[in-house]
Amino acid sequence: MTADYKIADLSLHAAGRHQIRLAEHEMPGLMALREEYGDQQPLAGARIAGSLHMTVQTAVLIETLVALGAQVRWASCNIFSTQDEAAAAVVVGPNGTPEDPQGVPVFAWKNETLEEYWWTAEQILTWPGAAENPELGPNLILDDGGDATMLVHQGVEFEAAGAVPEATDQDPHEYTIVLSRLRESLARDPQKFTRLAPQIKGVTEETTTGVHRLYQLAAANKLLFPAINVNDSVTKSKFDNKYGIRHSLPDGIMRATDVLIGGKVAVVCGYGDVGKGAAEALRGQGARVVVTEVDPICALQAAMDGYQVARLDSVISEGDLFITTTGGKDIIMAADMLKMKDKAIVGNVGHFDNEIDMAGLAAVPGVRKVEIKPQVHEWVFDADTATERSIIVLSEGRLLNLGNATGHPSFVMSNSFANQTIGQIELFTKDGTGEYERDVYVLPKLLDEKVARLHLPALGVELTELTPGQADYLGVDAAGPYKPDHYRY
Ligand code: NAI
Repeated sequence: MTADYKIADLSLHAAGRHQIRLAEHEMPGLMALREEYGDQQPLAGARIAGSLHMTVQTAVLIETLVALGAQVRWASCNIFSTQDEAAAAVVVGPNGTPEDPQGVPVFAWKNETLEEYWWTAEQILTWPGAAENPELGPNLILDDGGDATMLVHQGVEFEAAGAVPEATDQDPHEYTIVLSRLRESLARDPQKFTRLAPQIKGVTEETTTGVHRLYQLAAANKLLFPAINVNDSVTKSKFDNKYGIRHSLPDGIMRATDVLIGGKVAVVCGYGDVGKGAAEALRGQGARVVVTEVDPICALQAAMDGYQVARLDSVISEGDLFITTTGGKDIIMAADMLKMKDKAIVGNVGHFDNEIDMAGLAAVPGVRKVEIKPQVHEWVFDADTATERSIIVLSEGRLLNLGNATGHPSFVMSNSFANQTIGQIELFTKDGTGEYERDVYVLPKLLDEKVARLHLPALGVELTELTPGQADYLGVDAAGPYKPDHYRY
């Protein structure tokens, strides 16, 4: 273990280790993969640069990758999502001490600045000795949202051009920070990303938004290495996005505000996988839920599920709670927030912070921002009038389930991370076989079914087996896969 890591506080490691131990009990998929592959060490020689919320669940993923033979460096994929005790436990490792850490170099702490965030992103791609010998650099990326993948692609592009461009007026503020990080890198080492990229055997991508970026790169013929779309494993998006958010969204709202959800009007923007889980959770708490959608199929689903479907403008002054889940941008604008009820709560669970117009909100004349506590801010309008009105914005418009709470619970993340682990094994062990080209792949259905299977015993599920006659009649193998690829679940 090198001393290169940067976290909040190593002394939190014991608290982190206790939580990891309990999480392992709730992550049967990952523990089964350790059991199945521990002796074979399929990831021996893998050097994984990981960018994914540094939570307790992610700690179990990291230690699973290590148990399968990998070397790992890790950063969080969001400035607010790190659990500092989990980061400390991963650095110390199961067998280390704070004086002699034996674990994995982690570069993550809760409440990073954006400059720090992009520094951590570069650290996971900066391996000791790799400047002299590229083979010591990372050879796999495990990404959530695509920031690490984007950094490599942009780095290669700008190194080829010999310069990093200036940001334009159209670029979001954060992009100027990415560009200055890359400018600094180029000045220090003009070939860093050019050397690094050819070593990368592929990336496994966790979330809808990151996958979207990968398909765009592939369509433009710019993808530098194979990619596995973990999000669209059924056992990821139909579980983590839906059931995970069903748990962690109300958790975040409650920890942040302690407001009773029952009886309130909750507006959920987007009725995809995340929106479905969000709406169900809020209805479960007794809220009257209104959904907004652009896709007629999802709008019809929401209506059939019993929700009012309306345009945001129609319900803007009625809602007590507004949650964005679209993965799109400009969903709730400053002008909308000005029309909201006094003390309306506004939050986002889509991957990036561009769903809620925070810049526009900050620019409202006379607006005042009051910190209630970290990641909970009151924005006061009409501050100079007797009718002073305010709204509450959670996690500054970033993923509130990770900023105000601790993200999805272990059991559902065991499904997602079993897919991640299998994806990493696929890319690493099949490198050079021609099975994965510079394109985006979903894991085969049999592996998806395997992930589900690994989680059934813990829930006491008795699975019915097809008889040979039934299997023959349906035209499937009795051992699976049971559905054609186009089946939608
Ligand atoms: P999805 O594509 O299934 O759903 C998004 C829905 O929003 C779609 O039905 C789309 O038609 C709708 N939509 C798009 N623009 C809209 C607009 N202007 N107004 C109303 N509706 C609109 O995507 P999914 O899987 O639900 O993911 C959504 C976002 O959440 C992504 O950014 C994803 O990366 C992120 N995510 C966050 C998680 C968390 O823990 N907070 C977990 C999983 C995903």
